[in-house]
Amino acid sequence: MAAPASGMEDERVSGEVKREEDDDEDMPQLSAVAMEALREFLAEQQRPEEQDEGEGGGRVELVAEDWRLSQFWYDERTARALVEEVVRLVSPSGSGSAAGAVACIACPTLYAYLKKTDPGVPAQLLEYDERFGQYGGDFTFYDYNRPEELPAAMKHAYRVVVADPPYLSKECLEKIAKTVSFLAQPEGSFLLLLTGEVQKDRALELLNVHPCGFRPQHSNKLGNEFRLFTNYDPADRLGGWDLGAK
Ligand SMILES: C[S@@+](CC[C@H](N)C(=O)[O-])C[C@H]1O[C@@H](n2cnc3c(N)ncnc32)[C@H](O)[C@@H]1O
Repeated sequence: MAAPASGMEDERVSGEVKREEDDDEDMPQLSAVAMEALREFLAEQQRPEEQDEGEGGGRVELVAEDWRLSQFWYDERTARALVEEVVRLVSPSGSGSAAGAVACIACPTLYAYLKKTDPGVPAQLLEYDERFGQYGGDFTFYDYNRPEELPAAMKHAYRVVVADPPYLSKECLEKIAKTVSFLAQPEGSFLLLLTGEVQKDRALELLNVHPCGFRPQHSNKLGNEFRLFTNYDPADRLGGWDLGAK
């Protein structure tokens, strides 16, 4: 089970913080119940989430969502649709031999499904959550607040860049846009941006992307309207560009 994307645990734990009379006044103590709740929560964070084997095969194990890091994983249908598109873009000949590399900015589910579906595709996951260090050399620690603090070898090295920013703020998208420019090839790369509909105008201004008809979904439903934006028209795939979108 994923950790719920709310402050429930926080309330549950902090609500039970109590001071023991004979303890140092400045040192709050957790009750046994709160300690147990905290222990369970931390254990849950370490436990992988399993998604079913679908067409294309392969069980995909994901770490549990951590609401403190704004983590909401795609459902399987969404992840597989994105993978299909990315594989097509990166190997245009359809020969299976990858002609380019993929950068996954803050979208670990996409990375996991991509490697399960087509392990030969060179892909790099840029992520803040160090649990994804499990992917070895394919993992690069990334903090969007330092958008260009990345290894020099990654500069302009990716034919396909996919980004799913953790926050819906202008500041976050501006910084992610800097990272996209750093990673993309000067002659042009395919960009897929997954974010809230509310970012539509900013996304166009900063990254020249338009919304597609395809609607990404998450395993745990999100309250806000969520869209896929691309800098190319996928035409008969992913619902094409939805230029009539409000
Ligand atoms: C909205 S989630 C996108 C995940 C995507 N839906 C998926 O299923 O792969 C945002 C991601 O941003 C990451 N993140 C959180 N804080 C970050 C930071 N400061 N810098 C970069 N990424 C961060 C989270 O770990 C999370 O994976």
